[in-house]
Amino acid sequence: MPLVTSKEMFQKAYEGGYAVGAFNVNNMEIIQGITEAAAQEKAPLILQVSAGARKYAKHVYLMKLVEAALEDTGLPICLHLDHGDGFEICKACVDGGFTSVMIDGSKYSFEENIALTKQVVDYAHDKGVVVEGELGRLAGVEDDVNVSAADSSYTDPAQVEEFVSRTGVDSLAIAIGTSHGAYKFKPGTKPQLRFDILEEVGRRLPGFPIVLHGASSVMQEYVAIVNEFGGQMPGAIGVPEDMLRKASSMAVCKINIDSDLRLAMTASVRRHLAQHPDHFDPRQYLTPARDAIREVVAHKMRHVLGCSGKA
Ligand code: G3H
Ligand code: 13P
Ligand code: ZN
Repeated sequence: MPLVTSKEMFQKAYEGGYAVGAFNVNNMEIIQGITEAAAQEKAPLILQVSAGARKYAKHVYLMKLVEAALEDTGLPICLHLDHGDGFEICKACVDGGFTSVMIDGSKYSFEENIALTKQVVDYAHDKGVVVEGELGRLAGVEDDVNVSAADSSYTDPAQVEEFVSRTGVDSLAIAIGTSHGAYKFKPGTKPQLRFDILEEVGRRLPGFPIVLHGASSVMQEYVAIVNEFGGQMPGAIGVPEDMLRKASSMAVCKINIDSDLRLAMTASVRRHLAQHPDHFDPRQYLTPARDAIREVVAHKMRHVLGCSGKA
């Protein structure tokens, strides 16, 4: 089975009231853990690659690993560029075999965002590749760029119809209070998302797929393991699972998860090395780390996104 775009996946997800998971990949063990879970759960899957991941692993290595996963699992997989920050990286990924790209013009003015996004859409659509745009700005850390809460902004629902019709994007990421990284809400406060914005966006764009970034729950069982075995992540807190389930039943068709995978992998490695101080073969600690990724992804698909059995 060749790579697919997310078009059909999103249509089915919208109609079925569930979301497809988009998981960030950086190396072989992460790709294997995620794709093993998707095969086990018979779930549609988006693997996404950030600019940082492309720099770390190189485009060609990630491409070949994903091709191996396709052959190994026979699953429909969409390969997506996460947070493309300009035309050139989007073009490189379209030309280099990706089936979906995100152009993140959220830091620009509305008009500049439209112009850049449209340029990418025109190029990508010509080659059969789909495009995700973004309106509104999430707080948090991505590729070492730290967007403070003060510089973040909710999506203005009054802008979405014009943005979608003038750019021709296939899906739209919106900001409703999630953020990137492991520190999303202040400890002691009640996590809140602006479901009113999501509802209004859904009303204005009927049938159109919405994307939620910064959607890790920052699973506390893994934070506890990290902290027990020498890590320091006090106050790490994410988006409650029931909120993600609610968003999945609304217009949200794609949910981005990276931090939970990082956390599960790091917790596993820390615990393994602490419990086996004599081990020095990477396979000894990367095997349980890969298993931890598979377990987290399977949990998300089955209990949070609702996409198990939908491939
Ligand atoms: O949204 C950001 C993702 O978590 C990717 O992070 O840019 O550090 O690879 P990265
Ligand atoms: P998290 O940091 O919440 O996992 O978000 C990942 C993301 O949005 C990738 O684009
Ligand atoms: Zn993101």
